[in-house]
Amino acid sequence: MIIKNASVLNEEGVLERKHIVVQDGVISKIQDAAEAVEEAGEIVEAEGKLLIPGLIDMHVHLREPGFEHKETIETGARSAAKGGFTTIACMPNTRPVTDSAEIVQLVKDKAREAGLVKVLPYAAITKNELGRELTDFAALKEAGAIGFTDDGVGVQSAQMMKDAMKLAKELDMPVIAHCEDNSLVEGAPVAEGTFADKHGLKGIPNESEAIHVGRDILLSEATGVHYHVCHVSTEQSVRLIRQAKQIGIKVTAEVCPHHLLLSEEDIPGMDANWKMNPPLRSRRDVEACIEGLLDGTLDIIVTDHAPHSEEEKAKGMQLAPFGIVGFETAFPLLYTAFVAPGKWDLSLLVQRMTADPARVFRLNTGSLTVGAPADLTLIDLNEEKEVDPATFASKGHNTPFTGWKLKGWPVKTWVDGRAVWSEA
Ligand code: DOR
Ligand code: ZN
Ligand code: ZN
Repeated sequence: MIIKNASVLNEEGVLERKHIVVQDGVISKIQDAAEAVEEAGEIVEAEGKLLIPGLIDMHVHLREPGFEHKETIETGARSAAKGGFTTIACMPNTRPVTDSAEIVQLVKDKAREAGLVKVLPYAAITKNELGRELTDFAALKEAGAIGFTDDGVGVQSAQMMKDAMKLAKELDMPVIAHCEDNSLVEGAPVAEGTFADKHGLKGIPNESEAIHVGRDILLSEATGVHYHVCHVSTEQSVRLIRQAKQIGIKVTAEVCPHHLLLSEEDIPGMDANWKMNPPLRSRRDVEACIEGLLDGTLDIIVTDHAPHSEEEKAKGMQLAPFGIVGFETAFPLLYTAFVAPGKWDLSLLVQRMTADPARVFRLNTGSLTVGAPADLTLIDLNEEKEVDPATFASKGHNTPFTGWKLKGWPVKTWVDGRAVWSEA
């Protein structure tokens, strides 16, 4: 296959017109567009479109096994492909929890059957994510888990976390943490701030996240493990991670589009499509997250794609589950808000969603170079479309971005040279 006349970012972040030749699932040649096109089985005309390495999302919820009414591995993988993602890493808070080799195997089998994007399973740190007993890390690694996390809840005991880090370090595996001290949260549905005050809701304070970040940085220093912080949302967490990196502690971190785009002041009313964990924080926190992403304190962008059914979200702000879907809006949102108006370089956005996650998690994808897997995404930077959840491939329609007019929509996605999504 040849993808002809695509706009490709070079190492300086400048767009160049190239023909990309794909053979046996691998990028075999990158030709200057001035050169004649070789003979090929299939020719894809990409004139005027951006071609980037397939996006990588290291934090997603696919809900299978156990919550197939919210999403299945197949619908989640299709939603990811439609959003331009070619590799996704799924969280273990399924039912049963991914805390045994059998469930890791089941996730891998379902992903292979779906035959869409690459699905990398995380395994739980503690059995049933209850924080009481460690899982069998060696067996889970052997089965194919790529890291350990109790995402959905914080590991409340420092001793448990330290034991987990020691074990993970021995196995050369990362520990990925949802940072939340339950004693500071207790039933609060939104962050502390103007919205909580106005509606008489209990607020989640910033310290509930940052206390775990600080604790775990110290435990990472003590154990030497690679510690990765989930969905950073506070100024305090950014500050702690920045300082830890400066003194050489092996910490990396991620941030979600919604925490870069929305603050608690933007919540329009008691609509649970604006409820996620961590919650939307203050404008100041949003600015700190943006600054952290720009200076590399926050290494990567992830969606925390968290589909829920309409009935569940209809329970209202206090009772509905936390979470919003993310795959199908992530790139257009960030492109439209930051790149199109000239605030960020296109190459920075692409790097934080491709090369950087590949570096942090040692994946053999995320770059557009000869010899790399042909995991590729073609993007239309010009056509403007409204976010319409009715068109989502995901079973989840829970998004606060309905009606937003965006550019930068993925139009075609390939995994190992195979088309897994094509717009119309
Ligand atoms: O918003 C969230 N949704 N945060 C979490 O921690 C869990 C996730 C989910 O599983 O729905
Ligand atoms: Zn989480
Ligand atoms: Zn999550």
